[in-house]
Amino acid sequence: MTILVTGATGTVGRHVVEQLINKEVQVRAVSRNPKRASLPEGVEVVGGDLMSPETLIPAFQGVTALYLITSSDQADATLETNPQVVELAEKAGVQKVSLLTVYGDGPVEQAIKNSRLEWAFVQPVGFMANAIDDWQESIRKEGVVRALGGETRGAIIHEADIAAVFVETLLENGHHRNFYTLTGPEALSTIEQVEIISKGIGKEIEFEELTEEEARGEWKKMGHNEESIDFMVQMSKNPPEIGYTILPTIEEVTGRPAKTFAEWVSEHKSDFM
Ligand SMILES: NC(=O)c1ccc[n+]([C@@H]2O[C@H](COP(=O)([O-])OP(=O)(O)OC[C@H]3O[C@@H](n4cnc5c(N)ncnc54)[C@H](OP(=O)(O)O)[C@@H]3O)[C@@H](O)[C@H]2O)c1
Repeated sequence: MTILVTGATGTVGRHVVEQLINKEVQVRAVSRNPKRASLPEGVEVVGGDLMSPETLIPAFQGVTALYLITSSDQADATLETNPQVVELAEKAGVQKVSLLTVYGDGPVEQAIKNSRLEWAFVQPVGFMANAIDDWQESIRKEGVVRALGGETRGAIIHEADIAAVFVETLLENGHHRNFYTLTGPEALSTIEQVEIISKGIGKEIEFEELTEEEARGEWKKMGHNEESIDFMVQMSKNPPEIGYTILPTIEEVTGRPAKTFAEWVSEHKSDFM
């Protein structure tokens, strides 16, 4: 059995790879820069670009199941080529796909449903690891977090829990045609998240509420386009119910309770010091 992991160098993908390797499963990982992938020993790393699906044809040889991501890290772009990726996977004899879906129903989801592949869709809410991308620098340099929506709650999820659901769906039967929405075990406000980091690393961290205008300016400086800024403003001020409603899915699928943010912080102290 060989599992092909796309997004293998990403936040979730690294956990998927590690957990599969720990189960002694043969893993082939796709990266646009295989030399820089830095994945565990035993992983076969191959070159491939989801934006150019034909580059993946060699990677599909002998693969039984596929972990597929739906968007690229380049300018928040959706991987519109993914339906072709699904077609090529099917042609190559892949039997199963587990998809990390963001919006739940787009062209790739349709292509998978129309294929003869066995499938599971997995839709996580916000990742705990976003704390690193968003706050690492200001916590390290100034002991401060500046954000819009300090009181807004999110049922943020540990990336290893997301990966554990993928591993289960990729390796075990009984998940065909399931759509799993995943959340963490608590709906924490941004201010509470900052307090948990502060306690975990033993350092005072101030929280400063940004105005919407200030937040928009910051995101613009970071290179986000207007559409994604509007989305981030909405998620910060008035997220949909799915973002803060705690669900039991992690425990139902993996048999283990979802990890808390305090546990996540204890594993990532050095990222903030
Ligand atoms: N952050 C959140 O709160 C959140 C919440 C829900 C869903 N999501 C979604 O979850 C997915 C996975 O996120 P992540 O954080 O694990 O990933 P990530 O850390 O942002 O890394 C992106 C991964 O995608 C790969 N990739 C990007 N463009 C590619 C392309 N054209 N061809 C091949 N590989 C490509 C990169 O591989 P190489 O650079 O090695 O090629 C890298 O492994 C994303 O689709 C994201 O939108 C995120």
